[in-house]
Amino acid sequence: MAQVTHNPPEGAAADWTIPQDWYRYTPQEHAMWDHLFARQAAMLPGRVVPEFMAGLDILRMTRPGIPDFAELSERLMQATGWQVVAVPGLVPDHVFFDHLANRRFVAGRFIRTPEQIDYLEEPDIFHDVFGHVPLLAHPVFADYMQAYGAGGLRASGLGAIERLARLYWYTVEFGLIRHDDGLRLFGAGIVSSYGESIFALDDPSPNRLGFDLRRLMRTRYRIDDYQQTYFVIDSFEDLLRQTAETDFAPIYAELADQADLDTATIVTEDRIYNRGTQAYAHAKAGT
Ligand code: PHE
Ligand code: FE
Repeated sequence: MAQVTHNPPEGAAADWTIPQDWYRYTPQEHAMWDHLFARQAAMLPGRVVPEFMAGLDILRMTRPGIPDFAELSERLMQATGWQVVAVPGLVPDHVFFDHLANRRFVAGRFIRTPEQIDYLEEPDIFHDVFGHVPLLAHPVFADYMQAYGAGGLRASGLGAIERLARLYWYTVEFGLIRHDDGLRLFGAGIVSSYGESIFALDDPSPNRLGFDLRRLMRTRYRIDDYQQTYFVIDSFEDLLRQTAETDFAPIYAELADQADLDTATIVTEDRIYNRGTQAYAHAKAGT
């Protein structure tokens, strides 16, 4: 998401978009995409929500090489009316929200280097496109993302961007979803990460808690390592109903004087799928 507030950099349009310049990718960069793709595509079936795998097919993302945004947008437009546009990096909140509200997903165009294969600070094209775009081919998720953008513009005026950012974090980036055979992944931050795709589902360390809008908006998150808590939605339809069809203004007001919850805290009202040991986080912290 977005942290800066200056003007678009040299060469970018007023809405911060830049050309993807697809012809400039080197064979090594395409090979990096193929490597990351093969690794995730081999592991995700049975772990990711089936609509994600369907999205890869609908969008023909299973073909080799870094996707060309023009082509990808054409398919996405047919499926759900979305497009993918390139931006130079993080963009200001209002720019980000405005693109989403207009069914444009902003994506970085650079790809990680071999040294960054398992950890990078800024989202690259593999995270942005492999992680986020397949579910944009799903009509309900597509509506959720647009409504989120509109909600972001509204939250800016209500001083509630941080609350709303937590909703994005714990759903769009790190969400889990219920499935007949157990839990499945759908968050882009998980599905674009080899390590977290295993950790989020199988590791005994993190909490896995039922989605609760107010609770989640009070919960801090970590940007430096695997999450200590994941939230589980019942379905995309339920997520849409609880967000797009709910007026957040009274909720923001209600939450204004409530304390934040730490990344690993469990409260009595939580619907617990798994009470995490937090062994991973504790080991990392050296305790
Ligand atoms: N319904 C929210 C509001 O009243 C907007 C929103 C929709 C937020 C979808 C997130 C997701 O502001
Ligand atoms: Fe992301």
